[in-house]
Amino acid sequence: MVMLNQAAVPQPDVDTVSSVLNISQSPGGWFMEYHPKLRPMDSPTDGVFLAGACQGVKDIPASVAQGSASAARAGRVLHAEEWEIEPTVAYVWEDRCISAKGKKCGICARACPYNAIEYERGKAARVITAKCHGCGGCVAECPHNAVTQLHFTDAQILAQIHALLADGPEEKILAFRCNWCSYPGADMAGTSHFEYTSNERGLRVMCSARMDTDFIYEAFRLGAGAVLYSGCHEQDCHYITAQRLGAKRADRLLRTFEKMGMTPGRFRVEWISAAQGDKYARVLNEMQVTLDSIPKKQLLEEIEDLRPQMEKRARRMRQVPQVEEALAYADSLKVAGTGGEV
Ligand code: FES
Repeated sequence: MVMLNQAAVPQPDVDTVSSVLNISQSPGGWFMEYHPKLRPMDSPTDGVFLAGACQGVKDIPASVAQGSASAARAGRVLHAEEWEIEPTVAYVWEDRCISAKGKKCGICARACPYNAIEYERGKAARVITAKCHGCGGCVAECPHNAVTQLHFTDAQILAQIHALLADGPEEKILAFRCNWCSYPGADMAGTSHFEYTSNERGLRVMCSARMDTDFIYEAFRLGAGAVLYSGCHEQDCHYITAQRLGAKRADRLLRTFEKMGMTPGRFRVEWISAAQGDKYARVLNEMQVTLDSIPKKQLLEEIEDLRPQMEKRARRMRQVPQVEEALAYADSLKVAGTGGEV
């Protein structure tokens, strides 16, 4: 038996509405919700809600139910005197922004999936805080380290990297996880009792877009045995298109490490959903097998050989405000056998 769905296409002006309101679209052009499980009525733009066939073919009871739910969500906004936003927003250090010195840039504004950064040559980039959702993509993309993310500053993350790799770094697998997918995926691995290597050390950022190349270089400079760069599958990213930024950067890193002659598998990129605890455990175990297959002497020699290159690439990060103090503090700590996050 062959069953055919009736053909349906979105409204002809769907692309215009999508770009004006900043709503992401599925490959077929339909509007996509912020999160299919956690915020099914919300669009990625605060205050814009979805109902009915703008999301695809839907019957009347489902459309009516969704309409009522969206109206209730909108009512919350309309009745609130103040609206709280996430505190993990981006912040520009004006004295470091080259645009303020008249140079052409705008990388941060192009990186932002929410159009939350105003860029005008001759002025420092400006974050519109109410529009920023805190993916951290602009922070990692800025080549001048002129942008930071509150509560996920370079100094804070680098201090964690130092602490996690304080003992026997060559035995450790440092796993960068995004808050919304690979981090809960690791959690799922734990709650499902999937066994994976105890040499994993997890570090959380909000999105793969925040995983700065400097963090990876610094981890290898410190002698990490392996590094995992993980986040949501592209369509699951909590921040519209931010995962693409992270994915492009990860590809560049893979090519760079290949050119440097790093043993394949020491740097690995994986997209893992919150439900894929089994995948998280499998990936970590495979990375452990890769690490075990490299004779220790050879691994230590490779770390030493690559260290000057890592040092050179990560050096600009040290000029970022607060980084030196944070690293000095982290290095003064002894965190042996924490078995997890610091
Ligand atoms: Fe997970 Fe963006 S939130 S990759």
